Amino acid sequence: MKNLTLLLLVLAFVSCKKDDDVVQYDPTPYTLEYGNFPAPKLPADNPLTVAGVELGRMLFYEQMLSKDGTQSCATCHKAEDNFNDIRRFSIGVDGGEGRRNAMSVSNLAWHNTGFFWDGRAATLREQALKPIQDPVEMNETLVNVVTKLKSSKMYQDQFTKAFKDPEINSDKVALALEQFMFTMVSHDSKYDKWLKGTAQLTDSEERGRVLFFTEKDPFNNIKGAECFHCHNGFDFSNHSITNNGLDADADFKDLGRFEVTKNASDKAKFKTPSLRNIELTPPYMHDGRFVTLEEVIEHYNSEIKQSSTLDPLLYTIQAGLELTPQDKADLIAFLKTLTDQNFTTNPKFQTPF
Ligand code: HEC
Ligand code: HEC
Repeated sequence: MKNLTLLLLVLAFVSCKKDDDVVQYDPTPYTLEYGNFPAPKLPADNPLTVAGVELGRMLFYEQMLSKDGTQSCATCHKAEDNFNDIRRFSIGVDGGEGRRNAMSVSNLAWHNTGFFWDGRAATLREQALKPIQDPVEMNETLVNVVTKLKSSKMYQDQFTKAFKDPEINSDKVALALEQFMFTMVSHDSKYDKWLKGTAQLTDSEERGRVLFFTEKDPFNNIKGAECFHCHNGFDFSNHSITNNGLDADADFKDLGRFEVTKNASDKAKFKTPSLRNIELTPPYMHDGRFVTLEEVIEHYNSEIKQSSTLDPLLYTIQAGLELTPQDKADLIAFLKTLTDQNFTTNPKFQTPF
């Protein structure tokens, strides 16, 4: 009798343990950290959950998303490079070279002008499936990706935790990647600490800050670099799609936004990138034509090219910004205060594997 009780107890314990092991949908909300930034307006149909964000992180680092299993999103969006690629053009699974420089994956929760250099993806979930299928990137079909994920117990479990309906499909791959990318927020640079009063800028950084936010006014002898016209707000970009004077009409090679809208006034227009962590993401511009920040500053200082679609805000500086070598060094010192190693090393954004 005593033995039977024991047996029953053991059985009860085993079956109970089994119940605990059953993976279930877990709607625990994810708490987004964004420092002093305003709250982002996230899509109501894809609420951030701990399990959803974790699934997105797994997928971001998942090489099964590529045709031959050699590439993940992180191959071209490396943590230490501000989730960007420091090669001028990324190389896809078949060795093919893309035609544009990669972009950073950070603070995307606030981007409202579309994704990619030409803004061709309206939403992040739409963006997320494109590199998988791009022949010069991961070159895989969504059908194959879903088949591969379905054959993995780890993914069966994680999709079950992340979504009410556990079926694995490409829409959910997109939603999970969207969730994870929304959480990738860089808000803790030296500049942010200065705003909070917990860090001081050097004299050079402070002079650079003033130049950055000032409009040149030759009549009143006021120097300014005018960067804030487009690189403004807490993300150092209004994300507008515009032409910052890299080429004259005859030299337009990549037509940028025009390829999406077929509107002549959109020729050679590209999305204004954030300048956060800019120190970490050479080379610069959509085609990676500038290797250093010095070259970028010289472009705005004296090399703006006239064209039919040049942003009117740059007309005023066609005469050149007339920055001295010291001014240029100060601007770069300021740009480097936007570097946020707490972001690039944050364990939450590193590989879960
Ligand atoms: C082979 C390299 C490569 C891989 C792999 C890759 N990307 Fe990219 N990514 C790029 C390039 C290049 C661009 C810019 C392309 C363009 O604008 O036409 C880009 C742009 C982006 C952007 C746009 C950012 C913005 O500010 O608009 C996001 C987001 C992004 N990638 C996320 C991802 C995700 C998610 C994956 C995995 C599913 C991924 N990438 C895989 C190279 C890559
Ligand atoms: C009229 C709007 C405008 C102004 C003013 C402006 N920019 Fe830009 N900036 C852009 C656009 C648009 C791009 C992307 C252009 C491209 O790649 O074709 C860009 C790109 C950059 C890049 C490269 C970013 C990357 O990820 O490759 C840097 C750095 C930069 N700008 C810094 C500055 C600085 C510093 C100033 C002031 C001296 C400035 N910008 C003024 C619109 C502007």
